[in-house]
Amino acid sequence: MQKFFIPGSVVVLLFFMAALGVGASQTPVLRFAADCAFPPFEMIDEVTNQPVGFDVDLALAIGEELGMQVEFINVAWDGLIPGLLNKNFDIIASGMTITEERKLAVNFSDPYFTATQVILVPVNNTSIKGPEDLKGQTVTVQIGTTGDFIASDLKGLKKVARFNLVPEAIQEVLNGNAAACIVDDNVAKRYMAEHPGTVKVVAGDFFPTEYYGLALRKTDKELLAKVNQALAALKANGKYAQIYNKYF
Ligand code: ARG
Repeated sequence: MQKFFIPGSVVVLLFFMAALGVGASQTPVLRFAADCAFPPFEMIDEVTNQPVGFDVDLALAIGEELGMQVEFINVAWDGLIPGLLNKNFDIIASGMTITEERKLAVNFSDPYFTATQVILVPVNNTSIKGPEDLKGQTVTVQIGTTGDFIASDLKGLKKVARFNLVPEAIQEVLNGNAAACIVDDNVAKRYMAEHPGTVKVVAGDFFPTEYYGLALRKTDKELLAKVNQALAALKANGKYAQIYNKYF
């Protein structure tokens, strides 16, 4: 049997190279994450298999503004805050609504998008005209979303059926197993545009206005300030509008 000896000096040299990040890219990397089944904010491109969408373009623009490289990964919705706290990535950009409860765990950037929840029903439904008509019915939501919180507060529902992904929650309505899905307005709109003749939004403003924010660790105060500066710059220089117009 042959043995190889690596001289101690080589080991020490390798150690210092690793510590200095020699060989790694020189540009710092900003790691973003989202649950990429939320078009048009984040979805997986069928050709490239990579995340794309409004939040992805916003992340890239923020990186450009800060002179940082951007990575964007697909993480299950309920794993986003735990993954952030575990430092698996640095920023959640996932159409996440700023809520008081989430603020206990993370810091949010300045709002970057306005939204509300809507009631999505089969296109031929005529009986559901508002939340009160959901009494005795099954309503679907993505688990742990503001749609879930709203449905959970509605009185007299038969059941809130919770799904890991928004498309699954909508599919359940199409399958006839639920009367409605409560979901973010622009995601509902996109679904209707991509699947004409399937579902429609019940007309009317029933639920509060929500604001999406980027979520960061509470300890990353400097990064939060930089991200807010970048957002303000993108709004001022027209790049935010450019990205907005690409998707809406
Ligand atoms: N805006 C809603 C919330 O914050 C839903 C966001 C879901 N995002 C997603 N990528 N699935 O609860």
